[in-house]
This record gives sequence, structure tokens and C-alpha cells, in this order.
Amino acid sequence: MKRWILKWREIGGEKVSAIGLGSWDVRNPKAFLEVLLEAFSRGVNLVDTAEMYKTEPIIGEALAAYGDKDSIFVTTKLYPWHLKDEEECFKALERQRERLGKVPDLTLVHWPEDIATEVRVLEKAAEKGLTRMIGVSNVNKEQLEVALSSTKKHPIVAVQNKYSYTFRRTEELIPILEERNIALQAHTPLDKGKFPRNLLEVASEVQLPPATVALLFLLSRSKVVIPIPKTENKKHLEEILLALETELPEEALRKLE
Ligand SMILES: NC(=O)c1ccc[n+]([C@@H]2O[C@H](COP(=O)([O-])OP(=O)(O)OC[C@H]3O[C@@H](n4cnc5c(N)ncnc54)[C@H](OP(=O)(O)O)[C@@H]3O)[C@@H](O)[C@H]2O)c1
Repeated sequence: MKRWILKWREIGGEKVSAIGLGSWDVRNPKAFLEVLLEAFSRGVNLVDTAEMYKTEPIIGEALAAYGDKDSIFVTTKLYPWHLKDEEECFKALERQRERLGKVPDLTLVHWPEDIATEVRVLEKAAEKGLTRMIGVSNVNKEQLEVALSSTKKHPIVAVQNKYSYTFRRTEELIPILEERNIALQAHTPLDKGKFPRNLLEVASEVQLPPATVALLFLLSRSKVVIPIPKTENKKHLEEILLALETELPEEALRKLE
């Protein structure tokens, strides 16, 4: 029996599933398209792409096949060299719109080079309606603070950083993000499918797949955390969706900690 997901988060005041799907390194676009459609039909309404990934066309195809494009929240990311001036940024976002078949809901600076300028250029694009919301990716605390103080009309609504069971440095940002209700999209949340021994042990004790345990651990850390794992495998998708329907016992969380 198919069940509906039960956990939700917010980005910019809009309701999104507590887990989204990433799209880096898609090997089989047809299989990925099927995974996306299955995930959308089960209530996942968040998907991540970037100019760099070249997956906008396949996501655009999935959105068209699904039908209700506006109900799916699409995050994209621009190269910093397309954020040096407004014209380059506007052209890049026009290309994103064409490939996706809709205006991106959220556009991020993929990685910072001159974060104050990049954020201001993105803000201009939001004013022109070329992206609905803006944010940053791969930032440290100092870069985040510069970004936050560089926007006036369009706030930073999300940060996308590496955050996984084995990589916790991003946790230093969580107090700032919680205070401002900024989402933390956790990239590489499955450590690429390589799970450490103690996580495997806990997974075996609670009889859940290691990927489910890794995602539950991240979700337990803060209400702003939204993991964005990537899969093009339906069995793996089920393990990811399971994290939206279950919880870890306190004892398991303590052992993971
Ligand atoms: N902002 C940035 O700079 C940045 C950097 C990296 C990633 N990202 C975003 O974050 C997303 C996720 O990161 P990622 O793709 O690098 O790494 P990830 O999600 O940690 O791991 C993906 C790998 O794990 C495998 N996998 C998926 N589900 C699994 C499961 N249930 N059990 C075991 N293995 C599983 C996938 O293989 P199958 O496909 O065969 O399932 C794939 O090889 C990316 O796709 C991208 O959208 C952003």
C-alpha cells in the first residue's frame, strides 16, 4: 500500500516535504525520471538541480508529465561567474526557465567567490521575477553573515551545505538559521552511500536501512534541516521515503550521537 508522507518543513514560508531529491551525477535519466514521478506521487515536492548538473531538462520533463508544476518546489544553482553582473545572471535564469518549463522557485549561488555581489545580483533577478526566492550554498559562517546583510528586499531563505552523519561542520550555522527561519538543505546527506560502522550497527539494531537511519539522524537535529539525497533507484527511493514515515528511538539517537 502506498502511504502519504507525514513530515514537512518550510522554505520562505512555503510548505515543502522534509526531504527533497538531489540530481547530481544522474547516470540513467530514464530511471531518474521514473524515480521523480514516483516521489512526486508520494508527496515529495522538492527537487534540486544546478546549471552544473545538466539535469534541468529531465526535471522539466518530469514536471510536465506530473502536470502540477507549481506544486513542486525547484531549487537551482548558478555558477558564480554568472553572478558577476545582472545581464549574465538574467540570461542564465532564462535558460533555467526554458529547460525546467517554469521559473525556478529558489536560486542559489552555487559556491561563493564574491558573495555580497552575487547575492545582490540574484536579488535583482528576483525583483524581475526570474526566480521566486534566493539563497546561498557552500558558505561558512562569515560568508553567510555577509550574504544576510547584503540583501534588502529579498531575504536569503535557504542555505545548501554539505551536512551528513559524518560531516557536521555545518551545524555551527544552525543557531543563525533557526533564529531567522532559514532552511538548511543538507547536500550529500547519505555520504554517497558509504555508511560508517556505528551507523550500520544502529541500523541493524533498529532494523531499518542505513540510508533511512542517516536521514532520520539529520532530521532529528533541527526543524530547519531538509536533506536532499539523490537516487535513481526505486528501492533506494523507498528507503529514503521511509525516513518521512518513521522515527528513531531515543536510545538509537544517543548511540549515533
Ligand atoms: N551545493 C552543492 O555544491 C552540492 C554538492 C553536492 C551535492 N549537492 C546536491 O545534493 C544532492 C545529494 O548529494 P549527492 O548526490 O552528492 O550524494 P548523496 O545523496 O549523499 O549520495 C548519493 C549516492 O548514494 C546512493 N544512494 C541513494 N539512496 C541510497 C540508499 N537508500 N542506500 C544506499 N545508497 C543510496 C546513490 O546511488 P543510486 O542513485 O544508485 O541510488 C548515489 O550514488 C546532489 O544530488 C545534489 O543535488 C549539492
